[in-house]
Amino acid sequence: MILSVFFLFPAYSSCSGDKPSKPIKTAVEREAVHTPPDTSTIPDDEFGEMVRYGRSLVLNTAYYMGPEGAVRKNLGNKMNCTNCHLDAGTRPYGLNFFSTHARYPQYRARENRILTLAERVNNCIERPHNGIAIPLDSKEMIAIVSYMKWLSENVPTGTRVKGDDGIALVYPNRPADPAHGEQVYATNCASCHGKEGQGLYNLDSTTYTYPPLWGAHSYEKGSSMHRVLKAARFIKANMPHKQASWDKPVLTDEEAIDVAAFINDDRIHSRPVKGGGENYPNTARKPIDYDEGPFPDTFSAFQHKFGPYQPIIDYHEKKNLPVTF
Ligand code: HEC
Ligand code: HEC
Repeated sequence: MILSVFFLFPAYSSCSGDKPSKPIKTAVEREAVHTPPDTSTIPDDEFGEMVRYGRSLVLNTAYYMGPEGAVRKNLGNKMNCTNCHLDAGTRPYGLNFFSTHARYPQYRARENRILTLAERVNNCIERPHNGIAIPLDSKEMIAIVSYMKWLSENVPTGTRVKGDDGIALVYPNRPADPAHGEQVYATNCASCHGKEGQGLYNLDSTTYTYPPLWGAHSYEKGSSMHRVLKAARFIKANMPHKQASWDKPVLTDEEAIDVAAFINDDRIHSRPVKGGGENYPNTARKPIDYDEGPFPDTFSAFQHKFGPYQPIIDYHEKKNLPVTF
């Protein structure tokens, strides 16, 4: 629907000339966040069956594939995809899969090569889930990719839609402050995620009611959520859970960045470390908030992790180096 408005707009304005109210309304509609298809439209055929299974896997990942998984035991922790890819990957600015299927295969800087969507799914099984990749031709992989294909069905190949990215933040002109982040955490987060960031298991301990944020059962170092800006953009638009949304955030940009720095500060919190596999072999393509050198610039590992980020961004722009987050 949004797309048809987009394409109708030029035709409409060329034949209506002096009616300013319509084009303004159209522009606002065009800016609306993307609406993914409703689950009631999943077809009743073989493909639809895989889409449904894929959606269940995204929602109940630990049940199917966790350390004591019913189908396979590939995950190293009991988190579910939906803990980060909120509402089964359908929440605006909540790490959704709105346009994901439309954008793969894609160059990935971490591997410095083109990855298929299935390989990208395995990245999340290996890193945030601290697990072992599932076979690319397994029923579970085919189901997850089918679900993503169905979810992106109205998104043209190679395009993005409004709300499929992280929310934009204004970066403070100082390093992120984990000590201030600790206060933000105590006030806004600890009630669910726990004083020790350990989260809270559900009644039969098969998964989490509140997922962990650090410690042995949380996401690995090297996961995107371990990067301060990536995490802060997610947190600002979505946490505290059920209170914050992208258009009604609870935290300020500085609070979101500081609490993300507190959670991801390796000097105070531990988390699993990925074994093997070099990340970002092409130094120039590292995200600016990735904290392991070597770097294509003279900024320290500390500044890459905690900022201030703007001088790094300015330097990269001046030297024509990529600026990615
Ligand atoms: C701890 C949080 C976390 C968990 C759990 C997690 N992911 Fe991710 N995932 C991320 C982050 C962060 C990104 C990076 C998104 C970006 O670059 O904007 C990502 C990216 C992805 C992408 C690429 C999306 C795109 O549009 O490019 C796919 C596909 C994906 N995850 C699938 C999964 C699947 C399937 C699971 C469950 C098996 C899972 N993830 C579990 C955090 C997580
Ligand atoms: C009311 C309970 C609640 C509060 C308060 C809350 N969260 Fe969450 N958080 C959740 C739940 C539940 C999820 C998983 C969402 C899902 O599965 O649908 C989650 C997911 C997350 C995730 C991604 C998954 C993971 O464990 O890595 C992060 C990061 C996160 N929260 C950070 C925060 C931060 C930071 C705050 C404070 C600003 C906060 N949360 C406040 C309930 C809460």
